[in-house]
Amino acid sequence: MPDAFAEDIEEVLVPAARIRDRLDELARQIEEDYADVDDLLIVGVLKGAYVLMSDLARRLRMPTSVDFMAVSSYGAATTSSGVVRILKDLDTEIEGRHLLIVEDIIDSGLTLDYLLGNLRSRGPASIEVMTLLTKPSRRRVDIPVRYVGFEVPDVFVVGYGLDYDEHYRNLDFIGTLRPEVYS
Ligand code: PRP
Repeated sequence: MPDAFAEDIEEVLVPAARIRDRLDELARQIEEDYADVDDLLIVGVLKGAYVLMSDLARRLRMPTSVDFMAVSSYGAATTSSGVVRILKDLDTEIEGRHLLIVEDIIDSGLTLDYLLGNLRSRGPASIEVMTLLTKPSRRRVDIPVRYVGFEVPDVFVVGYGLDYDEHYRNLDFIGTLRPEVYS
């Protein structure tokens, strides 16, 4: 880890090697589950999912297409509504397609709850969810998540796509920040 990063990190929660091994397992599982699907559409939710999308897509030995969505994160005042704004929609129609939504983390579940409702209304053949991280203790709505990398405790995590103030997304591990970095 570069020194500039190392001094900001308090603890490494998921080392890079564990992420790689888990992605290998999940990719094999996805290949099995979608063995009969001609063209799986993998949808990354920006920005956090961009690292996972790249690493996952290159592990899948099957026909896939890739697309992205960008959504606004709701402010504190609107967390109870769970309404998110779509900043970038899919480029393609998804009626009759098989979708795998890829997230870096599921926290309250509100973002995905909204997204899944929105996407289901477009008539896809199927929708499943993959997330690298989940914080079950924070969940406010039940989300059907088929592929989970790791459960993490309710602590602020960065790395592997996850940011603090847009930094640390490029770390290849998941870690926590020293409190003095964000206080
Ligand atoms: C994160 C994450 C999910 C969402 C999860 O995105 O990528 O989309 O929050 O939270 P929830 O389960 O409580 O809805 P964020 O808003 O941080 O945007 P980013 O991916 O661009 O960093």
